[in-house]
Amino acid sequence: MTTDLFHQNQKKKYKKAIIVGASSGMGKELCRILVGRDWAVGITGRRENLLKELQEENPEQIVYRAFDIRDMSKTTKGLRELISELGGLDLLVLSSGAGFLNEELDSEPEFRTIDTNVTGFTDIMTFAYLYFEKHPPGHLVGITSIAALRGNAVAPAYNASKAYQSNYLEGLRQKSRKAGHRISVTDIRPGFVDTDMAKGDKMFWVASPQKAASLIYKAIRRKKRVAYVSRRWRIFAFILKLLPRWIYEKI
Ligand SMILES: NC(=O)c1ccc[n+]([C@@H]2O[C@H](COP(=O)([O-])OP(=O)(O)OC[C@H]3O[C@@H](n4cnc5c(N)ncnc54)[C@H](OP(=O)(O)O)[C@@H]3O)[C@@H](O)[C@H]2O)c1
Repeated sequence: MTTDLFHQNQKKKYKKAIIVGASSGMGKELCRILVGRDWAVGITGRRENLLKELQEENPEQIVYRAFDIRDMSKTTKGLRELISELGGLDLLVLSSGAGFLNEELDSEPEFRTIDTNVTGFTDIMTFAYLYFEKHPPGHLVGITSIAALRGNAVAPAYNASKAYQSNYLEGLRQKSRKAGHRISVTDIRPGFVDTDMAKGDKMFWVASPQKAASLIYKAIRRKKRVAYVSRRWRIFAFILKLLPRWIYEKI
């Protein structure tokens, strides 16, 4: 498929990115930053009206597809179409995520989290890795969480799914290094960010989505392996990892 955007990209040589989960929050703000830095960006999410609104801010540099990442057939089709419209791909950022406070351990929120953060995530990361393997170089970025580091009594599926994501990204990074695939892999671990995803009444060091996105952009530019957003969460992570299990279980 050749479109106006494709021809413009060829002419102006924009760098090309896809942000999965850019209808709101950090993904949306990152899209605005990339557009300001001469990237053409394909954005996705389920809420088509919000994607359209963002696209209208800069129709020359933004294209969108609405799909649910839990539906694997639609995801692959949507990503393929975006790559074709952009005229290639240099960077894929996966920001889509689901998480619920679920003290009752209801099965619906637990499995919805797994379908989105584990199955959907794996589907997109494998697709993008294999694309970049054929069309190097490439950069894969996952927005995981500080939650990846330990379990959580009120959101067990969320923390477990984020641990899966971090571990998966590390696996892909090792694969790329060993095989010489020229694919960079970045694991972004935010603390609390003021979006709909931020849940609970004990939040602290809460960053705005704009601030978080600018730190994510910096980490992307530097091709960091792991970046905490904001930086002070690195100290928190250090302490969290050191805490003995018998203390962690009580807090
Ligand atoms: N906010 C925090 O405190 C925090 C902390 C650590 C990590 N994170 C992680 O940061 C990432 C971005 O979240 P955010 O804070 O920016 O929250 P957000 O504003 O709620 O953004 C979440 C994005 O995920 C998309 N999404 C959710 N389920 C989807 C599905 N099934 N299919 C396709 N897209 C889906 C949403 O789009 P649609 O609803 O339009 O589909 C939206 O664009 C998430 O992975 C989250 O786990 C957030």
